[in-house]
Amino acid sequence: MSKVYITRPLAEEAMAMVRAAAEVRVWPEPEAPPPREVILQEVQEADGLLCLLTDQIDAAVMEAGKKLRVISNCAVGYDNIDVAAATARRILVCNTPGVLTETTADLAWALIMAAARRIPEADRYLRAGRWRSWSPQLLLGQDVWGATLGIIGLGRIGQAVARRAKGFEMRVLYTDVTRHTQAEQALGAAFVPLPELLRQSDFVSVHTPLTAETHHLIGAAELAMMKPSAVLVNTSRGPVVDERALAEALGEGRIFSAGLDVFEEEPLPKESPLLVLERVVLLPHVGSASVATRTRMARMAAENLVAGLAGRRPPYLVNTEVLPSC
Ligand code: DGY
Repeated sequence: MSKVYITRPLAEEAMAMVRAAAEVRVWPEPEAPPPREVILQEVQEADGLLCLLTDQIDAAVMEAGKKLRVISNCAVGYDNIDVAAATARRILVCNTPGVLTETTADLAWALIMAAARRIPEADRYLRAGRWRSWSPQLLLGQDVWGATLGIIGLGRIGQAVARRAKGFEMRVLYTDVTRHTQAEQALGAAFVPLPELLRQSDFVSVHTPLTAETHHLIGAAELAMMKPSAVLVNTSRGPVVDERALAEALGEGRIFSAGLDVFEEEPLPKESPLLVLERVVLLPHVGSASVATRTRMARMAAENLVAGLAGRRPPYLVNTEVLPSC
């Protein structure tokens, strides 16, 4: 029987799927990842690894896991895995695309609304007993309805965010490495280069994967192109935005506000300058965190793993070159 290591307890139905196909060992703590030494130890006997975006699966892990045949990430993003190193060893790498699209788009919208209308700030104000009267200038925010939304990365999640913008009668701009002509027509989205998007948008929402090219895609120079009334939202990966530059821009009132679900370092360090700023909504990477979506992700990760271990093509294979289709 194959052996599998799972780096966190997942939805029970997904665990049962893997247990039916393999001998399973699981890191027991639901809210803390296994230390690196534990992963290095556990992979030594494993044919399959079911991991999360919090686990760095690099060449050293693969060297330790001489028997590894499948690495199944329970996430759509796989920047935590050295895919080239896996491909060189003919290890299958799998992810969970599609199932979290709508849930993540919902959260991007929650951040757009919360940052535009200063919702957490208003909640803190009321709870602190500071509310004295309805006041004409109290906690004024930015209108979402009729504004311009700029989407960086019009993939599945970017498109789902754009679809929701229709209800707010927004003008939608996007930028990407490729044109999405069908989506442009279906969503009424216009392609513009990044500087143009930053200059024209009232809301900028980031949906690009993290790669060498997108690291710090939004830095000091890009933030300087945004309107002083603009809102920046990031639900993709933290390092796409230069956090220090963002904290400076927010602190100096050079943009209106921001909403972040992802950070350069997770969990966000206690000394992060973002933590003392009022005009930023901070969430602990919960973009896909609904009961139904997390269950679907876990099932998909289990399906990928079980298929790969059985010598079948996993439904969502990242490094397809390892298993060319016949
Ligand atoms: C992913 O799947 O990449 C998300 O960041 C998890 O919410």
